Parts: sequence; C-alpha cells; structure tokens
Amino acid sequence: MSKILITSALPYINGVKHLGNLAGSMLPADVYARAMRLLGHDVLYICATDEHGTPAELAAQAEGMDVSDYCDKMHEAQKKAGAYFGLSYDYFGRSSSAATHKLTQAFALTLETNGLIEERVSQQVYSKADQRYLPDRYVEGTCPGCDFEGARGDQCDNCGKLLDPIDLINPYSAISGSKDVEVRDTNHLYLKQSAMSDKLRDWVKAADGWPPLAMSIALKWLDEGLRDRAITRDLSWGVSVVDADGNIREGFEGKVFYVWFDAPIAYIGATQDWAAQVPERDWESWWRTDKGADDVRYVQFMGKDNVAFHTLSFPVTLMGSGEPWKLVDQLKAFNWVTWYGGKFSTSQKRGVFMDQAREIAPSDYWRWHLMANAPEGNDAAFTWEEFQATINSDLANVLGNFVNRITKYTVGKFDGKVPDGGVAGEAEAWITSELQTRIPQLIAYYESREFRKAMAETRAIWAAGNEYLTQAAPWTHYKTDVDQAAIGTRYGLNLVVLFGIIAQPIIPDAAAKILDAMNIPHANRSWNFGGREGIAALLDALPRGLNITAPDVLFTKIEDDDVSAWSQSFGGQT
Ligand code: 2FM
Ligand code: ZN
Repeated sequence: MSKILITSALPYINGVKHLGNLAGSMLPADVYARAMRLLGHDVLYICATDEHGTPAELAAQAEGMDVSDYCDKMHEAQKKAGAYFGLSYDYFGRSSSAATHKLTQAFALTLETNGLIEERVSQQVYSKADQRYLPDRYVEGTCPGCDFEGARGDQCDNCGKLLDPIDLINPYSAISGSKDVEVRDTNHLYLKQSAMSDKLRDWVKAADGWPPLAMSIALKWLDEGLRDRAITRDLSWGVSVVDADGNIREGFEGKVFYVWFDAPIAYIGATQDWAAQVPERDWESWWRTDKGADDVRYVQFMGKDNVAFHTLSFPVTLMGSGEPWKLVDQLKAFNWVTWYGGKFSTSQKRGVFMDQAREIAPSDYWRWHLMANAPEGNDAAFTWEEFQATINSDLANVLGNFVNRITKYTVGKFDGKVPDGGVAGEAEAWITSELQTRIPQLIAYYESREFRKAMAETRAIWAAGNEYLTQAAPWTHYKTDVDQAAIGTRYGLNLVVLFGIIAQPIIPDAAAKILDAMNIPHANRSWNFGGREGIAALLDALPRGLNITAPDVLFTKIEDDDVSAWSQSFGGQT
C-alpha cells in the first residue's frame, strides 16, 4: 500500500468550467483516485478554486459584484457542479484561504533570503482613462506572434503563446476599452528562475513517470533559457506582499502576488485546510519529506498549458526554499477537448458547461464518454453523434444488456437466487483465462494513467461476458439440463459482480446500482483480486442461494431526437 497524493489543476473561479476542462484534469484525477483507493492505496485527492488574479476581478466586474462575494458564490457553484460529476475530492478548497495566503508570503520571504527573489523596476501598461496599471488580462490587443486581434495580456488564446502585456500590438484596456495607454516603470518582485536552471534540468531529466508531452514541454522551456518572472502584480485582489514583520512591504501597497505564484501553493494550503478539519489529520506527512512525505507518490493532473508552471515555476518555489518539500513524481498532461473541432463558448452557445450537464444526461454517461475519448495523444473533438454512439453501444448494449439479461433470467427461472449445480466446462475455462489476462492489464493501464486504454480494456471485459453467455447459453440448456443452465447463470451472475467492481472508478453510480442489486457488501467491492487463482475463484464466489434482484434500467439509450434537441441548444453539426 502506498500513500498517493493527487492534485488536479485548480479551476479558475471565473465561471463554471466546460466539459473540456473537466476531461483534462479533474475527471481523470478522480478516476485515478478512485482506482487507486480500490487497489488499497492511501489516497489524498486535493483540488481547489483558483481565486486570485485578473480572471477573478474581471469576472466579478462583469457581474457587477464585489470580488470576494463573487468568489464565494462561484466556489459553491463549482463545488456543486463537481459533486454532480461524482468528483471524489478528499478536499475541495480555495486558494483565497488564510492558509494559502500565509504560505505564499512565507515562501516569498524565504526565497528572497535565499537570493532567489529580487525587486526590479519593470515596465507595465498604464491606462490613463482608468487611472491604473493593467496587468495580464486587463489589457488586450493584437498578438505579436499570430496577429490575432483579441489576444489577452498574459496569453494569446489563438496560438497559445505566453505574453507580457507590453508585447501586445495596439493595446487597449479590457476595463474601459480605452486605447489611451502607455508603458510606465513600476517596481515588482522577480523570481530568479534562471538561477535554478541547472538544478531544474537535472531534476527534470531524472524524472520518470512523466509522459513525453510533459517532458518535452519542460525541456523546451529549459532549452530556450528560463526567464526570471515577475511574481507580483498591480492589483488589489490577491495575496498581499509583506515584509518579515508582516507589514505591507514598502512600495507594494496596491500590489499582490501573481496568481500563478500562489495557485500551486494552494495545493499545500488546501491540504492544511483539509487537515484542520479533523485533529488526527496531518498535512505535513503529505508534503514535508522530513515529516513522512518521503514515501508519498505525488501525481499531478493538468491541461498542457499548465505544464510549464508545474514542472518549472512551482518546483523553483519549492526547491528554491531550501526546505524539504515534496515534489511531483508523476504527471499527466492532456491536450484539449474541442467542440466539433472548435472552441467552447458560453456566449455563442457552443458546448456544455459542467452545471448544464445535469439537464442532459446522467453523470456516468459523461464520465464514460469523456474518458473513453480522453484527449491523450491529440486533441479530441466532442460531438453529440459520437456521444450517442459510445453510450448506446458501450453502456447500453454491452454492459447494460448483459446485466439485464442474466439478472432477469435468474429472477424468472431461479427464483432470484444464485443457482447451485453444474460443472465448469470449456466456456468457463475460456472466460477464466480471458479475465486472468485482462484484469491485470486493466490495472496496469490505470496505474500508468492510460485512460483510453483502460476504458477499452473495460469494454473488452464486458464484451467477453457477452461472448461467454453466447457460449454457455443457459437459456438453451434449461429445458434439457437445469444443472448446465445453472452453472452458466451462476458464472454470469459472478461476472455481473465483477463488471460492477471494475466499473466503479469510471461509472460509479451504475456500478453501485449493480453491486447493490447483487447484494455485495461494501467490504467486498475492492480490487483485491488475488492474482490468477483469485480471479478464478471470483468467478464462482457468490454464495449459492444468495438473493439477487434485477437492477432498474441501467442505461437508457440516446435517441436521434435527443441529439437534434441538444445540437439546437448547445451547438452541433453545422
Ligand atoms: O489554467 C488554469 O485554469 C489555472 N487556474 C490552473 C492553476 S493550477 C495550479 F494551481 F497550479
Ligand atoms: Zn497568437
């Protein structure tokens, strides 16, 4: 049993996230967390809302709300949306918590003492009309990389390039639209990432458990030469910059830390908040290698745009402190989910956002489809047509029919009891050997976080169940040889249990329905399969005579009319 710390990139507070965001960090982290718990590991899954910076301020302004009230409201909305999808966080915190503020300020002071932070004069865009500096997303203009006209000061949404607001061509204020802007000198704190380049490169190169996508992004940044980064901004909402006495640092009135400096620190802050809820919980044993975290495996989940921050900037903060902080061991980065190849957009009604999903389909449908089509190697386009095809075929036809057929048959022919009698023959030997190969393979895919493969293997196991029933055909034997029918039915019922057990990380609601209908106690739902022998034993493990019921319809098929209606409301084939 290992201790596994899991974090998924913190969703910005500025609105409920869309299915693409869900599929690229929170959902796979949840599926992985659930699988690791089933394997008996001690898992801590932490996430939080990312509440500082210009995204929060701009969104609050757009709603005419005070930023703090806006964050309270949106934190609850995101929490609720996550709960609908069954995201099994051990704690869903907030980067605005006092713990994160305190940690951020402490890290900055230690880094400065270690010579890794220095105050420099920097050039910032100033708006005369708004009488303020315009950091990050407060300024928009034309991207110097691709000429896209709506680029934001921190990043171009068109080509993905990270930008400095002063790089923008024809800049204007995102607050007032005013073009009356100029570049002024102002002081900021800089994190001297360049000084840590060699140490980082050694650490990155030694990393195993990073997929090629993450490794190549990290090395590309190192090869291009790590630039020192300003870690403060001219904003009022965020973590204030203090001196060693806890007073606002001179000259830093009206400035706060950059959101990307404090956001990853919130992984630790949220763990502290989790621990503060119960006296026996100990955050240090997850984060301090001198306090027990040396045996923690730390796994991070994120979209590809977050990789540099997690493989370079955050490690600079942690390593640069000279303190024994736990660093990431394994990392899973995702490409994008697109909406029919394009962007999700609330205003253009393109795409489904997490809070809308409930009106459309059960959470298991989304979970299965998004993970079976996870954007692992490439971007993955969501389409209603594919959604309909995957759900109807994998869930309704392959799994749903199997469970339905054999449980109903048991209720009809064997009085709802697991039947006794019969001797295992060829068909039973075949399914046993099939599962002895496939189940270890499935676990291996979960352990290596290869979600598409894990889903394909799950589907193949369910399909093997159908193949078994075709071979065993209890309904054909019933009239002439009840014992022969009994063994086919009994194995079929044991397969139902096994299918429910392996389905738990991905479709937890349906899995629970199946296992409840089969009267399986919670203690017997783990992934403690016990090797080849154990798998063989599981196929005849149900006590004979045990009462079972047929679960209610597990998966209703998606009709063409549903697809048309959803396409109308949320965008579809044009
Ligand atoms: O890109 C984003 O959505 C950021 N809010 C992710 C932050 S991850 C972290 F906190 F490190
Ligand atoms: Zn661009």
